[in-house]
Amino acid sequence: MLVKSKNEIVFVCSNCGNEFNKWQGQCPACGEWNSLKEAPKVQNTKSGKSGGGQNGITKIKVINLGDISFEDNNSNSYISTNIREFDRVLGKGVVRGSLILLAGEPGVGKSTLVTQAAINLMTDKKVLYVDGEETASQVALRVRRLGGKQEKIEVLETNNIDDLEAMEQRVKDVYDLVLVDSVQVMRAEGVSGLAGSPSQIREVTLRLLKLAKSSGVAIILLGHVTKEGEIAGPKMLEHMVDVVLYFEGEKNTELRILQGTKNRFGAADEVGVFRMGEKGLVEMGGDKINLTEDGEGVGSGVSIVMEGSRPMAIEVQALVTESFSPAPRRVFSGIDFNRGQILVAVTQKVLGVPLYKFDVVVAVAGGIRISDTGADLAIVGAIYSSYKNKPIGGGNRVALVGEVSLLGGVKKVRNMEKRKSEARALGRELVEVTKIGEIKKFLAE
Ligand code: TYD
Ligand code: MG
Repeated sequence: MLVKSKNEIVFVCSNCGNEFNKWQGQCPACGEWNSLKEAPKVQNTKSGKSGGGQNGITKIKVINLGDISFEDNNSNSYISTNIREFDRVLGKGVVRGSLILLAGEPGVGKSTLVTQAAINLMTDKKVLYVDGEETASQVALRVRRLGGKQEKIEVLETNNIDDLEAMEQRVKDVYDLVLVDSVQVMRAEGVSGLAGSPSQIREVTLRLLKLAKSSGVAIILLGHVTKEGEIAGPKMLEHMVDVVLYFEGEKNTELRILQGTKNRFGAADEVGVFRMGEKGLVEMGGDKINLTEDGEGVGSGVSIVMEGSRPMAIEVQALVTESFSPAPRRVFSGIDFNRGQILVAVTQKVLGVPLYKFDVVVAVAGGIRISDTGADLAIVGAIYSSYKNKPIGGGNRVALVGEVSLLGGVKKVRNMEKRKSEARALGRELVEVTKIGEIKKFLAE
């Protein structure tokens, strides 16, 4: 049927996901302009079930909260992936009945990460891998490469989410975790649009959400992001799911950062750090964050920054070289450009370094980006060290932490105790000063 009668279509906001019967230029719910797109009305296809939702309530049920019991302290509702960095970002593990979106650029390692989680998942049940991008043999190959037991994982090769829904009972009985790879290639029957279109993505996600809730099984949905860093597909996808995780890595480095941006079950700002190796992702403890071999050398400053609630060691490298240009170069990688400019100016003025005659390059090792101002002191230290051609600490392993003010004062930053114990664990002394002038004494031979 090509012509749809009026009451078969609705207008869905591609920003917030709300539905309306009439088209309007601005979404009345979220205020976004030109976001309402025509979509077929979702008929509740599942036989006999009370439908409802936003399209007509068929059954009203009021729940008395006294009838809700909690399984002993919810300890049952988490399943650990046995990957510490993954669990940390998830909360404590995957929450039963939840829908988790794992987004990242193609090739960053999403399939690898979830396969490793499946292999290590702390359960006797199996994991179902619904794959629309690869064949079962390709998944098997990866499982073998990662050193996992092939029997633990079952693969459903399909692009059709109805195939998964059709096996709801088996999902309940046999699995604790379902992986769906990826949201862009899945289709739902009865909805128009190509796989990956907003109406398909919305419907696929809705159906998975329903399945997660009705079966109590956790579902991880993989999604590719565009170059601009957006999930290909509507923003509303993020509103619909329980947890949103981004997996990122700089080009040409092995470092991978897993960052939560939304979490109904825990802190949303946790970060997990991995390295992509020959046999999959290797967890990086706080200590192994790419301190280069010449880490103690001239122009190198180590700091302890906070990423979410975890302390993390980073290394700042600076190169200060005489400039032959009337406008010396300022190159900053891994730190905010304006922040870098300010720190160069403060170093020039307060430490008396004629940086106007020098090119200054500052980079954070390992392709990490930092926004924590606690690293300021290490940046100033690295610049000064390079200028003086002497290493910081003079043979002692130190970490510099503190926010630098315009006048050269150094302020304490949050979580000093956590940072101190992290520094201690790395065999470093955390240096606290109140004025940047004091770092001069750390450069003594
Ligand atoms: P993949 O998980 O397929 O990325 P995504 O699902 O996000 O598209 O991983 C992509 C890259 O990772 C691929 O180029 C191969 C590499 N890789 C490793 O380096 N080591 C490994 O153990 C595995 C499984 C993959
Ligand atoms: Mg993949």
